[in-house]
Amino acid sequence: MLFKQQALLRQKLFVLGSLAIGSLLYLVARVGSLDRLQPLCPIDGRFGPRGQDEIPLRALQFKRGLLHEFRKGNATKEQIRLHNLVQQLPKAIIIGVRKGGTRALLEMLNLHPAVVKASQEIHFFDNDENYAKGIEWYRKKMPFSYPHQITIEKSPAYFITEEVPERIYKMNSSIKLLIIVREPTTRAISDYTQVLEGKERKNKTYYKFEKLAIDPNTCEVNTKYKAVRTSIYTKHLERWLKYFPIEQFHIVDGDRLITEPLPELQLVEKFLNLPPRISHYNLYFNATRGFYCLRFNIVFNKCLAGSKGRIHPEVDTSVITKLRKFFHPFNQKFYQITGRTFNWP
Ligand code: A3P
Repeated sequence: MLFKQQALLRQKLFVLGSLAIGSLLYLVARVGSLDRLQPLCPIDGRFGPRGQDEIPLRALQFKRGLLHEFRKGNATKEQIRLHNLVQQLPKAIIIGVRKGGTRALLEMLNLHPAVVKASQEIHFFDNDENYAKGIEWYRKKMPFSYPHQITIEKSPAYFITEEVPERIYKMNSSIKLLIIVREPTTRAISDYTQVLEGKERKNKTYYKFEKLAIDPNTCEVNTKYKAVRTSIYTKHLERWLKYFPIEQFHIVDGDRLITEPLPELQLVEKFLNLPPRISHYNLYFNATRGFYCLRFNIVFNKCLAGSKGRIHPEVDTSVITKLRKFFHPFNQKFYQITGRTFNWP
């Protein structure tokens, strides 16, 4: 009798357990599909007057669903036609500066439902071979998007390459240009760290930063060293200003993007005339990484790759002081031209 009761109880428990697991599985599946159907952020804002400029609901619904698939190249021609998707030339470009936080900026802007990023650096304007392939080649490198979304690409080499401003001007003279900068000496050391890591990966030895940054004959800053030259922001910007007015540039504080990304992103949203959609919800601090990471929705979040946020080597303080002194007048000029002042030493 007792045995029979126990068997019955086991049977009941089994049925209840199966029901619980079934419900759980259903909920997980539902959350997954909802994620694909729900907009990333509330949709009450628009670009301009109601109607033509509205961000279409579908654009938001499919941001991480269909568009993502298409970006991976899984779209059929029929699907592209059906969803009215296009490959658009960028309306804004992150032109630099290398190691300023260009990847973080692009990924964070991509949290905005009206922004679609070109995942890879295209290097169209700085690479003669690519440039010779023509503008259609460039457009075909762009991700699929809805007509009301904007495409953004980043290639930090653009900022320092002589021919680029004129080439971009020829494509679109009213394009918006984003430049993300960090304290110049820190940026130069970050630049060096990236090259050093590449050498170490190939089992090659490399000079110390101090040896590259300071000319051993004169004991002065070595302006032939690329990592130093890139940090003279004003020199490069002056070349760009021959083609574009300063109003077409927006300067992003790369040091602040690390510690306090949201206000920096809100300034960019404003500059791009986008409704404010990136919120605290989209950014969370990951103590293990030591950086902010991205949250698209309850299911999908990500941090930047480990190659972003490397540990810099120790640099002789006298070299740092020398570099800071060297960059100082160029920084002052940069503040003057851009109208954005930083607390760089
Ligand atoms: P370090 O590696 O020197 O720390 P870029 O993408 O232009 O190469 O810039 C890389 C820099 O982006 C990194 O430099 C890092 O400090 C900075 N960065 C800014 N926000 C970041 C984030 N959320 N996650 C990782 N790195 C970030």
